[in-house]
Amino acid sequence: MKALFEVLRPDQKDWALAEAIDPNRLPAHIAVIMDGNGRWAKRRNLPRVAGHKAGVEPVRVTVETCARLGIRALTLYAFSVENWKRPRAEVDTLWRLLRIYLRRELPNLRRNDIRLAAIGRVQALPAQAREELEAAVQATSLNRGLQVNLAINYGGRNEVVDAVNAVLDEARRKGRLDSLIVDDDAIASHLYTAGLPDPDLLIRTSGEMRISNFLLWQIAYAELYVTDTLWPDFTRTELLRAILDYQKRDRRFGGLSPAGGSPSRESHFVGVGATAR
Ligand code: IPE
Ligand code: IPE
Ligand code: MG
Repeated sequence: MKALFEVLRPDQKDWALAEAIDPNRLPAHIAVIMDGNGRWAKRRNLPRVAGHKAGVEPVRVTVETCARLGIRALTLYAFSVENWKRPRAEVDTLWRLLRIYLRRELPNLRRNDIRLAAIGRVQALPAQAREELEAAVQATSLNRGLQVNLAINYGGRNEVVDAVNAVLDEARRKGRLDSLIVDDDAIASHLYTAGLPDPDLLIRTSGEMRISNFLLWQIAYAELYVTDTLWPDFTRTELLRAILDYQKRDRRFGGLSPAGGSPSRESHFVGVGATAR
């Protein structure tokens, strides 16, 4: 968190918010459904793509703030498998903006030890966007600071299907298909987010109370934070507020909150008919 205070002044409201945050209880992984670009533009009588353009800066601010806070992972929903239903011109603009973002931000990502990953069926992207995305992923692959997952041509159901097929392929290759038993760990370790903790906090902008096919498996116990703010208006202040709100939640993971201790997602409560591990 020290790095965050470097860019704040004591008279700023973000300073007070940052001071209120408990550095020992930060979410390890934050996921964001960046929604409301179209409505932001419409309110200004601008074409929808103007909203997407205005949505690039809050991406930059969110990445920088998470890096300065020392958050381990940030997953940003940039394009869903369902978003292909939109007009061709809008979709093309999104690919163009992705390329602009990558070109502009790659030096900052490298300088700040940020690792970029892409989750989703990126093979289906137009060649130029795909190549630049893959190059940026490659160029930051050894970085060990914040991991930023860009969810692009991403679908939560696709991800689970891809994971199941990967489990089957692996068993087939090893000649173990006949004795294969699929459990939670087998699926989780073949998801696009394998190796990362599940999101602790899921933020959705623009007030919509739905998941829209995002990280279906991983958000089983995420704390949800929905704000009416439209994505282009999302700020560092709002991110800090979301984290503070998260820190006030009582996370029980199906158990009871023990007096004086925080419950752990690792706890296993054995119910009737269940076998202890
Ligand atoms: C989110 O904003 C960006 C993408 C889905 C690519 P929208 O474009 O969905 O904006 P609204 O929801 O129409 O306002
Ligand atoms: C979810 O937003 C996808 C992204 C933010 C990339 P949508 O705008 O596509 O979701 P719906 O259609 O409102 O559910
Ligand atoms: Mg939307």
